[in-house]
Amino acid sequence: MSTIHIALLGYGTVGKGVYQTIKTHQKRFKAILGKEVKIEAVLVKNLEKHQLPDPDVILTNKFEDIISLPKLDVVIDAIVGKQPGFSYLSQAIKRGCHIITANKQMFAHYGRELLSLAEKHGVSVGFEATVAGGIPVIQTLRKLLSVNHIKKVHGILNGTSNFILTKMREEGCSFSDALSLAQEKGYAEADPTNDVEGFDAFYKAMILSEVVYGKQPDWEKVRKQGISSITLEQIELFSKFGLRFKHVASLEKTTKGIHCSVKPVLVSSSHPLFHVEDVQNAVSIDADIVGNISLQGPGAGMFPTASAIVEDLIQLETERARPDEGADHASFAHEPLLTWVLYGEVKNLEIPESIEIIGKINAKALLVLAKEESIENLSNKIKGITVYQLLGDFTFSGTEESRFPSAHSITGS
Ligand SMILES: NC(=O)c1ccc[n+]([C@@H]2O[C@H](COP(=O)([O-])OP(=O)(O)OC[C@H]3O[C@@H](n4cnc5c(N)ncnc54)[C@H](OP(=O)(O)O)[C@@H]3O)[C@@H](O)[C@H]2O)c1
Repeated sequence: MSTIHIALLGYGTVGKGVYQTIKTHQKRFKAILGKEVKIEAVLVKNLEKHQLPDPDVILTNKFEDIISLPKLDVVIDAIVGKQPGFSYLSQAIKRGCHIITANKQMFAHYGRELLSLAEKHGVSVGFEATVAGGIPVIQTLRKLLSVNHIKKVHGILNGTSNFILTKMREEGCSFSDALSLAQEKGYAEADPTNDVEGFDAFYKAMILSEVVYGKQPDWEKVRKQGISSITLEQIELFSKFGLRFKHVASLEKTTKGIHCSVKPVLVSSSHPLFHVEDVQNAVSIDADIVGNISLQGPGAGMFPTASAIVEDLIQLETERARPDEGADHASFAHEPLLTWVLYGEVKNLEIPESIEIIGKINAKALLVLAKEESIENLSNKIKGITVYQLLGDFTFSGTEESRFPSAHSITGS
């Protein structure tokens, strides 16, 4: 029986999960692929930290030992950072190896280069694990794109932020206490900046944009905001109105190009993301034929991520990856009117005509309808106001100052 020869870059949370999964699934590989899968070597940074369970597998801290292996078919990347991951994978492709990566930061920056290099060398690139861990979002989007136009994608793509927001609301604790709890449980890194300031979700959104629209928006124009400025006071106030904060990455193609934002939004119970709690991730896809599809599941962790990597391994053995598939299927949309909550000193706020006030939630919160551009202009001009997009249906009792009768129902998109 023939063998697929693998090199594994990284032996941390993800690397160990992949190693164990490959070891425990040999029968499955033989049944599906008619081949054995053998890890030949593992690359780490600090040799002294590690011991592999199998003496015949090479453990090294030199990439030269990997790239010069006599037999090498697939290189799996589970290391961190843009470099040296990009350089290692480029060398692997040039040698004729298929590559699979979990490294979203590297892939958001260099995915395009790696895909075109791979095409040139006739090899495949698997990157399912870069977005939402164990949820098969890339595969699902590709399948949908063969028939559908994807209108919008909304996703909770960072489990740590979702965990913090859930704990703050459920247990009434501050942001820093919820963050400490996330760190105790091993969800957040010692330096949580990437998670709580939105960088991690941003990288994943850029990878999704490549899959759905065949390119990324201008990074400078993407509104990127984390959750560290959300206060318990805000969470409690909006909870009373049945609204939850979620950290959401949104993607949509408009007449002005790809529109993407990564920011905290308010979500009502009618929206699929409302019930996504704790460390769960979810992706809600609006497609023209099938309608709305929501996928929810573990967005990170040793085995969910390993599952995505091994699925890629099986897929690339059975068919070649199809880079940028669907790029021509995306349709253009007009810039939509969205629903927003303006929070803060709203009492004497001068609202331009481009923004329609729907009602007043309370003395500190107004509900409005506007295009994103108008809202951005307003929030750039006026200090003391925070703006949150509202997703889902929302029914509220209008106050005496509201222009609408009580129990008014609106729909946020
Ligand atoms: N953790 C998750 O749930 C998850 C989910 C999806 C995607 N990812 C992505 O998967 C990758 C790995 O994440 P992780 O959580 O497994 O990280 P981790 O636990 O910190 O492990 C990283 C591994 O990579 C090795 N490494 C780092 N830099 C290296 C370098 N320059 N040369 C050689 N080896 C190097 C480290 O070696 P030493 O051990 O010797 O330091 C370690 O074994 C990251 O890109 C991450 O964004 C993670």
